[in-house]
Amino acid sequence: MSYTGIIFSKNGTKIMSNKAEVVEVSASILAANPCNLVEEIKAVQSAGANRLHIDIMDGHFVPNMSFGPHTINMLKRHSTLPFEVHLMVKNCDDFISMFSASADTIIIHPESTDHLHRSLSLIKGRQLRTGIALNPGAPLEFLYPVIDMVDYILIMSVNPGFGGQDFIPSSLERIEKVRNYLEQKNLSCDLAVDGGVNLQTAPRIIQAGANVLVAGSAIFKQTSYIKAIQQLQSHNL
Ligand code: DX5
Ligand code: ZN
Repeated sequence: MSYTGIIFSKNGTKIMSNKAEVVEVSASILAANPCNLVEEIKAVQSAGANRLHIDIMDGHFVPNMSFGPHTINMLKRHSTLPFEVHLMVKNCDDFISMFSASADTIIIHPESTDHLHRSLSLIKGRQLRTGIALNPGAPLEFLYPVIDMVDYILIMSVNPGFGGQDFIPSSLERIEKVRNYLEQKNLSCDLAVDGGVNLQTAPRIIQAGANVLVAGSAIFKQTSYIKAIQQLQSHNL
């Protein structure tokens, strides 16, 4: 993955940018029509989504519930997109095995395990990509001791549990800090942002250094999925 580093503004002055050359869109099916999930995931795949984001909630870690493993296993038969399973649950270890047949990446919150290293090892042991999600109130330092084991970092830009919330502006500085840290360490893991991503917030999120945009309402609540996805993917400064 490469980053533009130095870019030029319209009047020719040099400005620094963390902007990724390729921005991918992960469609969050929490915002899809739950009565029509198969058609919805097919539609976003043919509209050009790069990945599927699947929120799993247990009613404890967050005050909401979503999908179970049976539903996600069935959906897997209808899509060739990578499934990124975001576990918003207490005791994430109990859920890793439930979703390992359908997931390509399993994303966990550090607060949902007593032993973060062990939980990441569990995911790796199933030959899946590992992800860490950081809530708006979580210290970025959670990442540092385990960074070598992580393929995917998810900066939460809302408090998790619900779609359709407003982007928390202080997330931008957190994205920038993580991107700089990854650059310093020469690490190429994905840096994704989840919550309130739309055409207004996306340019600043990309400028801050994210290379994956997780979007629910900004895709599934729009009339044209193709237009919504293409606009997010091609967002320029
Ligand atoms: C929030 C979830 C998100 C959610 C984003 O807890 O983790 O994935 O679907 O929804 P939007 O894009 O509508 O903010
Ligand atoms: Zn999510």
